[in-house]
Amino acid sequence: MDALAALRLQLEWGADEALEDAPVDRYAATTAPPPPVELVPATLTRPPIVVPLVAVPVAVERAREAAAGAMTREALLDALARFDGCALAETAGKLVFADGNPGAGLMVVGDCPGDEEDRAGMPFVGPAGQLLDRMFASIGLDRGSFLATNVIPWRPPGGRPPTEMEIAICLPFLLRHVALVAPRRMVLLGTLATRAMLGGTLALSRARGRWHAIAVPGMDVTVQALPMAHPLGLLKAPRGKREAWSDLLRLRQALDADRRESEITPT
Ligand code: URA
Repeated sequence: MDALAALRLQLEWGADEALEDAPVDRYAATTAPPPPVELVPATLTRPPIVVPLVAVPVAVERAREAAAGAMTREALLDALARFDGCALAETAGKLVFADGNPGAGLMVVGDCPGDEEDRAGMPFVGPAGQLLDRMFASIGLDRGSFLATNVIPWRPPGGRPPTEMEIAICLPFLLRHVALVAPRRMVLLGTLATRAMLGGTLALSRARGRWHAIAVPGMDVTVQALPMAHPLGLLKAPRGKREAWSDLLRLRQALDADRRESEITPT
C-alpha cells in the first residue's frame, strides 16, 4: 500500500512518464565512492567542453535553416520530423504538427501538446481541444474553419512547461508554418503562444481584447493576431470565460468584416 501511495504522489506531482527502462537508485549513486582521480600531466588532459554558449545558438540557427528550407507544409513537416536539435523529440511520443484547414485564413496557436495529443499525434484532441471546439462552435466555427497548431510540436516530459531555449528552437518552425499558410488572422491561445508570436513578456491580461499586427518573415503583409485565454486555463479558472466570450465575439465580427470585404473586392 505504501508503494502504491508513493506512486500516486508521484503522479500528483506530474511524474507521469518513465524515461528510463530501469529505475535509478539516487541514494546508492550519492554514497558510492568517488571515481579515482586520473593522474595525467596537465598538457595531456582533454580541453574543457564549453557547451552552453556554443550549442545554444547553434541549435536555434539549425532550426532556422531547416525551417527556411521548407517550401511547402509537407516539406516543413518532414524537416521537423528529421530535426535532431531539440531534445523534446527524444522523449515525446509523437510529433504533433497541425489539424484543420490550412486554406481557411485563420490559424489557432496553442502552447504544447498534452498527453492525449502526444499519443494521437494531433493537436487539441484532449479536454482542452474539446472545450476549444465548443468555444469555436458557439461562433459558428469548426475544424474546417481554421488550422490548429502549437508553438511546441513535442510534448515536454511529464507535461512540464517548455524552457526558453526549447521555445526559441521551435519558434522558427512555427513562423515558417505561418508564412507557408499565410493566414489573414491568428488566435493566440494563452501566454506562451502570445509571447512567442508578439515577443517580449507582455501579460496575457494586457494583450488580450485587441488585434495585434505581426510581421512574419517571408510574408508581404502583416497578420492580425488576437490573444485570448487558453481553454486549459479556462477549465482550471472558469471565471475567465466572460472575457473569452467577448474575445470570441471580437473574432466573429472580424471574420464577418473580412467576408464582406472580400465580397466587395473579390481576389
Ligand atoms: N494544449 C495546447 O496548447 N495544445 C494542444 O494541442 C493541447 C493542449
